[in-house]
Amino acid sequence: MTEHNNVQTLNQFIIERQSDHPGAKGELSRLLHHVGVAAKIVNRAVNKAGLVDILGDHGDQNVQGEDQQKLDVFADTHFIDALRASGECAAVASEENEDIIIFEDEMCKNGKYVFCMDPLDGSSNIDVNVSIGTIFSIFERVTPRGQVANMEDFLQEGTKQVAAGYVIYGSSTMLVYTTGNGVNGFTLDPSIGEFCLSHPNIKTPKSGTIYSINEGNYINFPQGVKKYIKYCQEKDARSKRPFTSRYIGSLVADFHRNLLKGGIFIYPQTNKNPDGKLRLTYECNPVAFIAEQAGGMATNGDMRILEIKPDSIHQRVPFYTGSTKMVQKTEEFLHFFN
Ligand code: AHG
Ligand code: MN
Ligand code: MN
Ligand code: MN
Repeated sequence: MTEHNNVQTLNQFIIERQSDHPGAKGELSRLLHHVGVAAKIVNRAVNKAGLVDILGDHGDQNVQGEDQQKLDVFADTHFIDALRASGECAAVASEENEDIIIFEDEMCKNGKYVFCMDPLDGSSNIDVNVSIGTIFSIFERVTPRGQVANMEDFLQEGTKQVAAGYVIYGSSTMLVYTTGNGVNGFTLDPSIGEFCLSHPNIKTPKSGTIYSINEGNYINFPQGVKKYIKYCQEKDARSKRPFTSRYIGSLVADFHRNLLKGGIFIYPQTNKNPDGKLRLTYECNPVAFIAEQAGGMATNGDMRILEIKPDSIHQRVPFYTGSTKMVQKTEEFLHFFN
C-alpha cells in the first residue's frame, strides 16, 4: 500500500520533467499519459487472463508468421485506441500489423509524434503465467503536421527517439521509460490504480554475472558467440566466473532483470533467423535507448543499435545489450573469431 505523503505518480513525474524539454507544450506528456492508461488496461487483462477468454490463439498469423495470441491482439487494439485518443500521435508501427496504422482524423493528423510498439512481448509465455511486456518507441515525425504521416516518419535512426520504454507485467507491473534524461521505473499500485515512482534514475552495473541467450540455438551461433558462452562458463574467481545463465524467453523480463542486477542479453544470428530474431524499430531501438541511458550498451555486434538506419519497420537485427564490460567482452570475441 502506498502512503500518500511520499508517492509520486507517473503523471506528476511526467509533468514535472516537462521542464527537461524547453518549449514543451505538453504534447509528449499527454502521449505518455495515454501510454500509461493503455498499460493499465492490458495489465487488467493479463491479471485476469486465466479467468476471462483472453488466453490462447487468436486464430490468425501476424506478418512475422507467428500465431497471434488473443492477448497480442487485445494489447495491440487497446494501445492503438489510446494513441488515437491522445491526439498527439499521427501513426503507429506495431509488430502485429504489417503496415503502419495512419490516423486520418484532423486532430491526429496534427499529431507531433509517431509510435512504434511491440504490444505484447513474450507471447510464448502468456499461457504459462511467466512475465510478459509491452515495448514502445516514440519519434517526432519528419513529415509536416496537418498532413497524414507516412513510412518516412518511421525509418529514423534510434538516436532520434524522443522517448522509449517498456511495461513489464510480472510479479508487479512496472513501467520503465526514458526521454533522454535518465531512466525511471514506476510500479503500479493497484489499490490506487496509479504507476508510482519506485526506481528513480536507474543505472545498470558496468559488469555483471548473468548471461541470457537461448543456448538451444548454440550450434548455429557465430563462432565468437560460442567462444563467449564458453568464457562465461569457465572458472575464474577474479572475474567471478562461471557466470549464471538466466533466460526467460521474454525480452522485457530478461532485459529488466539484467538492467537492475547487471548482465548481458544476446540474440545473435541463427539459421532460422540469419539477421537475428528481434525487430529493430519496436524491440531493439527502445531497449537500446534505455540501456544506454542507464549507462549500458546495445550493439548488433558491430555498431550501436541506435545508429542503424532502418530499411523497414519489421527489420530484424542481431542484439547484444546490457552491462558495458560484458558487451565489450563479447565484441572482442566476435571481432577475433568471426
Ligand atoms: P514477441 O513475443 O513480441 O514476438 O517477442 C518474443 C521475442 C522476445 O521477447 C524474446 O526474447 C525472444 O522472442 C525469445 O525467442 P526464442 O524463443 O527464440 O528464444
Ligand atoms: Mn511476436
Ligand atoms: Mn517481442
Ligand atoms: Mn510481440
